[in-house]
Amino acid sequence: MPAMTAEPALDGYGQGRLNKDGIRIHAPDDFAGMHAAGRLAADILDRIADVVAPGVATIEIDATIHEMIRAAGAKSATVGYKGYRHASCISINHVVCHGIPSDKRLKDGDILNIDVTVIVDGWFGDSSRMYVAGTPSRKAERLIDITHDALMAGIDAVRPGNTFGDIGAAIQRHAEAHRCSVVRDFCGHGLGRVFHAAPNVLHYGRPGAGPVLEPGMFFTIEPMINLGRPETKVLDDDWTAVTRDRSLSAQFEHAVGVTDAGCEIFTLSPAGRFHPTWTRG
Ligand code: MF3
Ligand code: CO
Ligand code: CO
Repeated sequence: MPAMTAEPALDGYGQGRLNKDGIRIHAPDDFAGMHAAGRLAADILDRIADVVAPGVATIEIDATIHEMIRAAGAKSATVGYKGYRHASCISINHVVCHGIPSDKRLKDGDILNIDVTVIVDGWFGDSSRMYVAGTPSRKAERLIDITHDALMAGIDAVRPGNTFGDIGAAIQRHAEAHRCSVVRDFCGHGLGRVFHAAPNVLHYGRPGAGPVLEPGMFFTIEPMINLGRPETKVLDDDWTAVTRDRSLSAQFEHAVGVTDAGCEIFTLSPAGRFHPTWTRG
């Protein structure tokens, strides 16, 4: 997800219909490409669940993901993106997002987000979920459940005539009702044939605020929710974002497209394993 300081991307399609808010309105035929890309990202996130365990290094998980992308004849969107070198972001415990895979090994009780973006026939599939190594604490499991439900509350607000503020408000309301906080420093984003396009999709806000949703808009919703305070900082590696108070953070991400009836989720789990990715104890 882009940092909130990033400029809204010029999305590089060339010709095409942008609405008055500068948001691309895709054609009905474009949904199929997004479903194919989203399905691959989701299938990889399904299959990687069996690899996550105490003792496994996150660079090994990333290598497996890269191999799965290659085997599918697709491309990683993150390798080479702004100097990033990996096929996934793996964000453990108090890491909010953009954790860099490394030789660090998972420990029993670690919670982690794995975020994968693939390119299939030019279309981007972007999704992330939470995993656990071994047995999570009750408070960690609770945070993960709240974060998942906050994303789904946001998706429930996706329909023509609603606004982006309605999505953010639904997420914020759910998280704060459970005494958790919403990260402000990163957001969801338009996507399609580009990785990050307008608009910035905020995970907090006021009902009725922001641009109106229209059929043909494609974007991610990817709330990061903390057990403690919302503030983050980026480490010296220029990628890893952590909670300033070192409280646990969780995130889920779906890519969706607005339809006349509401929305379609491009990144649904083929195995029905979006949440939980583990077997509850
Ligand atoms: N997949 C992330 C998102 O949801 C972006 C990762 S960019 C990277 O927008 F370079 F850090 F991989
Ligand atoms: Co994203
Ligand atoms: Co992502």
